[in-house]
Amino acid sequence: MNEPQTSTQFWDNRYATASPLSSGKPGAILVRFTDRLQPGHALELGCARGDDAVWLAKKGWNVVAVDIAQQALSYAADNAQRNGVAEKITFEQHDLSESFPEGEYDLVSASFLESPVDFGREKVLRKASKLVKSGGLLLITSHGSAASWSDHRPSPFPSPEEALAELQLESSDWSSIFVGNIERLATGPNGETGEILDTVLALQRR
Ligand SMILES: C[S@@+](CC[C@H](N)C(=O)[O-])C[C@H]1O[C@@H](n2cnc3c(N)ncnc32)[C@H](O)[C@@H]1O
Repeated sequence: MNEPQTSTQFWDNRYATASPLSSGKPGAILVRFTDRLQPGHALELGCARGDDAVWLAKKGWNVVAVDIAQQALSYAADNAQRNGVAEKITFEQHDLSESFPEGEYDLVSASFLESPVDFGREKVLRKASKLVKSGGLLLITSHGSAASWSDHRPSPFPSPEEALAELQLESSDWSSIFVGNIERLATGPNGETGEILDTVLALQRR
């Protein structure tokens, strides 16, 4: 019988066969909710090939970008180098269920920090919320519906309100900028397109 995979094994295998090149574009939700912010210190959780971190760095942010997969971090570092922002980004390898970067941040972003291997996502996001400075933004984007080509199907998808409740935040400490679903036209691996929902929590620490 096969041993169950750890998070590290799963994501190392995923990146071992994935293309080193990304879309080169930041996530639409990140752009929408941070474009007008004054740049400061940002933490990105699950940075993959680094497109969000690179975009933030080009906007003037100093970024700590974290991923569990060394290969992803290596692709992301190349991405930063190609875009001339290597000095603005510190890459750190963490399995966030076990360790976290140091510091406090003006922006903590977790974009599709989701995994087929259970890593205690709610606990990780609760911990992430504690790293947001007063006045800073916590931005969490997750899948709110599945594309027809995707095998990602939690049943059912948590509503935005359920996702917020899972964070167990002290409500008096946070202002809600946006808690809801946002529709997006997604493109699948074979070029197919379809409307899907993202679940977005944009919360500012008071
Ligand atoms: C679905 S991808 C999302 C990537 C990117 N943020 C985006 O918006 O497209 C999830 C990323 O989280 C990373 N990841 C998964 N589990 C993790 C963990 N326990 N600790 C740190 N990173 C993890 C994966 O290696 C992968 O790069």
